[in-house]
Amino acid sequence: MLNVTTPPRLFAIVSLFMIVVMVIVTGLTQALFFRQSIIDRESVIVGDMANALAHEHSISVADMENYSNASAAKHLLEGFGPISQLSGTQRIKVFNRDYTIAWSNDPGMLGTKQTTHIGDLMRAMNGEIRAVFNSEETSLGTGDHSSSTAESIEIYAPIFEARQDRSTTAVIGVLSLSRSPLALNQTIRNGLYLLWTVIGITGLILFSALYKLFTLVYSRQKLAELRFTKLSADHDHIVQLEKLSAMGEIVSEIAHQINNPLVGVINLAQVAERDPEISEKTRRLLAAIEKSGIECSDFVQRLLRLNQAARSEPQSVEINDLVRDTIAFFHQTFGKHHALTFTESDQRLMIVADPVLIRHALFNFVHNAILAAPDQPVLISLAAEYHEGMSGYLLSVTDCGSGFNEETAKKLFKPFFTTRPGGTGLGLSVAQFIAMKHGGTVRAESLPGGGARFSIWLPSGPKP
Ligand SMILES: Nc1ncnc2c1ncn2[C@@H]1O[C@H](COP(=O)(O)OP(=O)(O)O)[C@@H](O)[C@H]1O
Ligand SMILES: [Mg+2]
Repeated sequence: MLNVTTPPRLFAIVSLFMIVVMVIVTGLTQALFFRQSIIDRESVIVGDMANALAHEHSISVADMENYSNASAAKHLLEGFGPISQLSGTQRIKVFNRDYTIAWSNDPGMLGTKQTTHIGDLMRAMNGEIRAVFNSEETSLGTGDHSSSTAESIEIYAPIFEARQDRSTTAVIGVLSLSRSPLALNQTIRNGLYLLWTVIGITGLILFSALYKLFTLVYSRQKLAELRFTKLSADHDHIVQLEKLSAMGEIVSEIAHQINNPLVGVINLAQVAERDPEISEKTRRLLAAIEKSGIECSDFVQRLLRLNQAARSEPQSVEINDLVRDTIAFFHQTFGKHHALTFTESDQRLMIVADPVLIRHALFNFVHNAILAAPDQPVLISLAAEYHEGMSGYLLSVTDCGSGFNEETAKKLFKPFFTTRPGGTGLGLSVAQFIAMKHGGTVRAESLPGGGARFSIWLPSGPKP
């Protein structure tokens, strides 16, 4: 089915429809007017010619009335006979004021009252010129000369008395001329072809001009909207970046402040434990203090390590090497039994980035993937991808876990969001922070067949 949802398409369809309607209405009215004016012009010429001939031969009322008289008949023949030489002439009838045929090129019609269009004949008798299209001619009145002819145009032209002003009283009869409409139709047809072509071309020009104008305005508006969307997205990124940086600084400050007294607590607890004079109960309590202190210190160390993400040292690095190093580091940390598959690229793909930070982000993805499905394989893939006019590389980590729901999807990258007991909720937010620091992005997808895919896209330069 035709898709009409985009505004330019809708505009094109509606305006095309309106222009087609306009062209048809204009064409039809113009065609009617054109056809009528050609017929009127033709009728006037025939009328003028008939009158000129009648006047030249001084045809009088008496001739018209006494048409059976030999001299009148000769007179009428001399007057109206030449008309039959007009091309396409089928039948000439000259009616006198009694509506009787006084002369015709078909002698059999003489004295009859044959006509189909009595109304037009009467109007012509009152001085009007009439033109009608016949498909068939039948008899009227007494004559039995009914005949049928092929299509014809019949012109009723009043014959005026010579040397008198043209008024209804001066009409001495009516000339009816049936002609083949072929030549006339041909002229009309040619004229109409021209008319339709001109109107059609005008419609097309109008349509394309309107369409161009609309698409121009529309694309400008879209561009402005796009710029605005990008600006607000950039703004969101900066706000997020600032939040994470500020958070990092606060965390680091607190961690430093806590770290020194904490080391003191642990050391003093160890010293006190070695004192032989204390009771067994006190020793146990001191050991508990030391253990809690160490746990606390570990946590503080982790926070300090986290803050390293805020400092980056970009350099030219090869991504395949970077992924291999991350896998090796992961195996060292969590053992070799985890099935990590990496589909490498056979080309060397260089980017400018801080390798420590990128490894950290990828490590977080892999760690999450392993936690999501501990005994299942994890796939790491690498692909070139354009993003907002930049070329770059997309590193994806796919697992076979149970994925995440929409509710979780909204919070994934929020600092401290976690659904795991013992989780810090910092892995993904730090990965996002690292991507942003490199002008890249992160992406999370819950796959339809189960499992999740987390990706980091890093720019390699402007789109070629
Ligand atoms: N591969 C994954 N599959 C399903 N959910 C995940 C995956 N990785 C992360 N998540 C969800 O995102 C949350 C935040 O992850 P993260 O920031 O790494 O923190 P943590 O791992 O400490 O929970 C996780 O608690 C989990 O709900
Ligand atoms: Mg994690």
